[in-house]
Amino acid sequence: MNHEKVLVLDFGGQYNQLIARRVRDLGVYCDLKPCSMPLEEIKAYAPVGIIFTGGPNSVYDERSPHVSEEIFSLGIPVLGICYGAQLIAYTLGGKVTHAKAGEYGKREFSFMKKSPLSEGIPEKSVCWMSHTDLVGEIPSGFEVLASTPTCPVTVFGDIQRKIYGVQFHPEVVHSEYGNELLKNFLYRVCNAAGDWTMKNFVGEQVKLLKDKIGNRKVLCAMSGGVDSAVAAALVHRAAGDNLVCVFVDHGLLRKYEAEEVVSVFRDGLGMNLVKVDAEERFLGKLAGVAEPEEKRKIIGAEFIKVFEAEAKKIGAVDFLVQGTIYPDVIESGKDKSAVIKSHHNVGGLPSVVDFREIVEPLRDLFKDEVRKVGTELGLPDSVVNRQPFPGPGLAIRIMGEVTKEKLETLRDADYILREEIKNAGLDREIWQYFAVITNSKTVGVQGDFRTYENVIALRAVTSVDAMTADWARIPYDLLEKISNRITNEVKYANRIVYDITSKPPSTIEWE
Ligand code: XMP
Repeated sequence: MNHEKVLVLDFGGQYNQLIARRVRDLGVYCDLKPCSMPLEEIKAYAPVGIIFTGGPNSVYDERSPHVSEEIFSLGIPVLGICYGAQLIAYTLGGKVTHAKAGEYGKREFSFMKKSPLSEGIPEKSVCWMSHTDLVGEIPSGFEVLASTPTCPVTVFGDIQRKIYGVQFHPEVVHSEYGNELLKNFLYRVCNAAGDWTMKNFVGEQVKLLKDKIGNRKVLCAMSGGVDSAVAAALVHRAAGDNLVCVFVDHGLLRKYEAEEVVSVFRDGLGMNLVKVDAEERFLGKLAGVAEPEEKRKIIGAEFIKVFEAEAKKIGAVDFLVQGTIYPDVIESGKDKSAVIKSHHNVGGLPSVVDFREIVEPLRDLFKDEVRKVGTELGLPDSVVNRQPFPGPGLAIRIMGEVTKEKLETLRDADYILREEIKNAGLDREIWQYFAVITNSKTVGVQGDFRTYENVIALRAVTSVDAMTADWARIPYDLLEKISNRITNEVKYANRIVYDITSKPPSTIEWE
């Protein structure tokens, strides 16, 4: 891709992906690269600007990451954020001091001198701080541009050399004019043109994919999830009928979900979609199995077997499409943490398909960009904004053994929950919301009769990345409505409970 690019050097801070997302959202392509990127590679990358992110270290620690002073002589504008700002000061001869107490949260700061970075930003506004160290002395040639009562050097810069440091985090929403500051850096300091739009991306990718694929055969495993759906739709634009999508319906999807995949992709987009009805097969394997990890492993293994059988029927293909996205690429470069749950995804497929090359058209995109590309390609909102759904599907939302009857009860309860959340306009605010069948039965009374039925749990969480999550504060009235509807409309359910645990200590899914 021949875009102008900004280089975001990652010094280990918790908001680093967010910085990259903001830059892209502002219309400039950027990559998040390790801070150890050699100078030669930085030169070859030829960015229009460089951003140093925050990080957990102190510049004076021996093991803290540093940069070569030469980076500032390349004539490329630099913006340092938090640790990145301290690093600029330290590397160019200023001083960083260790504050007695850290400064966290919202602070009012004032610009005392105008610069391209402050254009259009009021003299006083709120920023979001999270630091203990701060810049004590600025390097020569620099000026202090803004401060707070407790942080004298909040923004500093060398306007001539286009090097700036900001102590706060412009990338987080709590920094009132943070986005304007980043925009100013891109457009007024780096003079970016802003050529990164999803419309351009689609046009370029389709052209690239056409050149690559030509008239050869492509295979894609479609799960109904956003990433594989958008990847398939994009490749379909370039490969047409040469793309075969295999959709394995394991019978563990939510109500109407399998039908929707067929209607959107086969009927709507005219894709060559093979739907494999494997419900009986999966339920047969799951019969009598109650242990969560065992269920996950059975489903993962069976999925690969079903896909392999289907791929054999299709025969050798040239390409296999994978819905890898940018956070997967960034994460795969890092240490893996302990496995809490064995994840089911299509990662195991390459070993069972006879293909020459993997195509990953979304490798450079963040999730929100993937959704925009989906919309650009004409996918409906229900697909593009689909909430995350686990590969093993409803099997891990049914505690204990999975049966057809429990699946039906769960589907109906889950459908009511989803419908009501959507009607209340909360579907975008809540990260995930679903029903779970607990393996408890309780006594109830319906009409004049005693009942002994399932307890259904409702789970709804807010999150930014599923790594941590909080339970959603759904209004009581809405909970009441959902509870009433489920107990009235769904068979075999006589008690509804709401899950009020965050992650950690719980996980989002119940199994
Ligand atoms: P937990 O339950 O671990 O889930 O807090 C974190 C996120 O991952 C989703 N999830 C899965 N996604 N395959 C997936 O593709 C899986 O096997 C799987 N298990 C959990 C879960 O829905 C949540 O968004």
